[in-house]
Amino acid sequence: MATAEEMKWGITGGGGQLARTLSELLQKKRIPYKSWDRQEMDITDLKSLEKIAQYKPSVLVNCAAWTNVEGAEDSFDEAIRVNRDGAANVAEIAKKLNIPIIHISTDYVFSGVNKRAWMVDDSTFPTSNYGRSKLQGERALFEIWPEKSIIFRTAWLYGPFGKNFAKSIIRKAIISKEKISVVNDQFGQPTTTLDLAKQIFQAMKNGISAGTYHATNAGEASWWEFARELVKLSDEDTDRVIPISSHELNSKVKRPAYSVLDHSDWSKVGMQGMRDWQSALLEVFPEIKISVEKEK
Ligand SMILES: NC(=O)c1ccc[n+]([C@@H]2O[C@H](COP(=O)([O-])OP(=O)(O)OC[C@H]3O[C@@H](n4cnc5c(N)ncnc54)[C@H](OP(=O)(O)O)[C@@H]3O)[C@@H](O)[C@H]2O)c1
Repeated sequence: MATAEEMKWGITGGGGQLARTLSELLQKKRIPYKSWDRQEMDITDLKSLEKIAQYKPSVLVNCAAWTNVEGAEDSFDEAIRVNRDGAANVAEIAKKLNIPIIHISTDYVFSGVNKRAWMVDDSTFPTSNYGRSKLQGERALFEIWPEKSIIFRTAWLYGPFGKNFAKSIIRKAIISKEKISVVNDQFGQPTTTLDLAKQIFQAMKNGISAGTYHATNAGEASWWEFARELVKLSDEDTDRVIPISSHELNSKVKRPAYSVLDHSDWSKVGMQGMRDWQSALLEVFPEIKISVEKEK
């Protein structure tokens, strides 16, 4: 098998925040890749997926997804079409080319009722349509291409590109002087697109076997704790961040209360888990702040 440096990478969902960070990483390493955004390639359209076979990558990373969690409650069929059927289409191509596929899934496949970190093999029980559609995507991959499907479940993803929680809190912190209400009864792992992209790269370098992996930064926080850290780094008053309950949010989505993921499986494949979320945030914060200021 080719080393990660010799590989040619194909990335779907190229306009998204993870795909853009992964592309940047590969570019810095001078590794050949092609990233197709939604306009160039719709993963629900078999015809447009032919571009992958033409490029002949040696690994595929499926970053394309329906990520509108609220919207999936009213548009489940649409979410399924992308997160299950689209993912299945990409897996079919990977199978045809006999190459590994890394597919990104989510902590939302779990119910969130545990008080300990979720193990890879724990029973899944999504409480939202988004989580249901992503779980069906995981299953589709293992049905179609069990030999070379690698699922990375991540969570609370943020970075300099696109829209994410971290950017919207920093924006509120630096643009206004208003209070910022954030839920304090949902716990998870803020995860940088940079560390996830690096973990994907390292996984290919190590040639890890097919299966499911938990790819989040270590430690845990509530959304409120994460927001306070972001406001502190923005040199603003952290007392502006007001803790509220999920109930007060009035969301139609039932999100997991506790979705911290266990990382013990990384050592079994000779890899280290991802570093703690605070260190990761410290590294990427300046770039995210610059990107928020540019978008002002
Ligand atoms: N963000 C998180 O907190 C989080 C948490 C857990 C797991 N994940 C998973 O991580 C992966 C990457 O997420 P992300 O945060 O980078 O999401 P993102 O920024 O929303 O990117 C997803 C990309 O997929 C594209 N897309 C949607 N439908 C498509 C289709 N039919 N064909 C091709 N592309 C399509 C979107 O294009 P448009 O923008 O044009 O629709 C968007 O550019 C996803 O699988 C997501 O489910 C994310």
